[in-house]
Amino acid sequence: MKVLVYGSGGRDHCLADKYGDSQHVDKVYFAPGNPGVLYTPKGRPDRQLIERVQLKDFGQLAAFCIEKGVDLVDVGSENPLSEGLVDVLNDQGIRTVGPKQAFCRIESDRAFTDDLLRRAGVPKPEYQVFDDPEKAKDYIKRIGYQVVVKANGLAAGKGAIVCDDVPDALAAVDRIMVDKVFGTSGDRVVIEERKYGTELSFYVYLDGTQVLPLRMLAQDYKPAFDPEDTVSIEQFGGNLNTGGTGCYCPHKLLSPWLVNRIIKEIVNPTVNEIYNKLGWAYKGVLYFGLNLDPYDRLDVFEINVRHGDPEWEVLARKLSTDLFEIGIAVWEGTLDGVKQVWNKQHYVDVIAMEGRSKASRGWNKGYPARYGKGHKIVGLDRIERGIAVYFAGVDEDPEKGLVTYGGRVLHLVAGDATLEGARQKAYRNIAKLAFIDHNNNDTNCIRYRRTIGV
Ligand code: GLY
Repeated sequence: MKVLVYGSGGRDHCLADKYGDSQHVDKVYFAPGNPGVLYTPKGRPDRQLIERVQLKDFGQLAAFCIEKGVDLVDVGSENPLSEGLVDVLNDQGIRTVGPKQAFCRIESDRAFTDDLLRRAGVPKPEYQVFDDPEKAKDYIKRIGYQVVVKANGLAAGKGAIVCDDVPDALAAVDRIMVDKVFGTSGDRVVIEERKYGTELSFYVYLDGTQVLPLRMLAQDYKPAFDPEDTVSIEQFGGNLNTGGTGCYCPHKLLSPWLVNRIIKEIVNPTVNEIYNKLGWAYKGVLYFGLNLDPYDRLDVFEINVRHGDPEWEVLARKLSTDLFEIGIAVWEGTLDGVKQVWNKQHYVDVIAMEGRSKASRGWNKGYPARYGKGHKIVGLDRIERGIAVYFAGVDEDPEKGLVTYGGRVLHLVAGDATLEGARQKAYRNIAKLAFIDHNNNDTNCIRYRRTIGV
């Protein structure tokens, strides 16, 4: 079988890798992909069966799939889904995993989904929607409690600004609605009550009529810095919430009864609303970002129409079920025949980010503020066997080889019989990597959080 994975980030690299593990698959095309796939270290079996295809145009992709006889396309990220890639491929008779354009509203219109959840009786934090910044600010001043200010549209996972106080929240409204840091995605905002507790990430697959909840939980770490780091919001451009700097699974709170509770309280009413009230034959994955507060209340923070990133990178390593069998069942409507099998390992994903580096004038503070690019990535050949490296913000330089290109550069995923063992392995190995800052005596400008999985 031949599979094409569409995307270019760490989650998409991991999807390509996971399809490559399938007993049914002998070729994986990765489009538009990233050059990192060629540098995946020796720890994993050689991934020669993954081939990068630098195509972005949807029509050309469809033609490529027909020419090569691609059996299944999995679209990894929200932007091509929301732009209708699945619709274009389906029109040409190509089988896909991922929702049609119209169904992506679940992720691209937060207010729509918040209302859907409210109708379905699914617990979620208090919220109000605003198209006018002044009205949003009046509301924030009136309620007084801490909020999260969210851009209503897509913002690469970074559209939620978590605020400590009223001045922070007012500034967040200005950034999103007036300064338009997320473009038109910020024409509307959702002001949501800030919740405390433990984040839980949960996935389900949908095949148009049935649902397969994955009986696994992961924990994402969205803040860019560790709790003991002393950085201020202003220093880092107004948002320290990056959408993921690492994660681990299984979640420490994983239990069969918590999974059943999530399915009963959250998944079933939501899916009922999608299938039966909206009448949508949704095929693909749904990601639920959840919070469990100290009073045992579960809330939905967000729902996405694709695998979570970085959660997928650890779940994929833990999942023993053949991903091609899941993908084809999503397409054919046969999810009831899929048996999910999980191995016994614990996995930790630490994301290596661009840290402080020398700029042509002054300094780059590093991700999530302005960061440098083009720093040579060294040390991949020293990574231990069994460790996976998935690339995100990377590029290839004719002289330097693999170099940094984005703020979140790569994921290093380690597995072990215990969480602590996986943590130690991940940190022992990431310490072998360096991003060489050629403008500053070749110092290492890599940065990563130290507390993933603690
Ligand atoms: N990790 C959260 C997300 O993918 O949106």
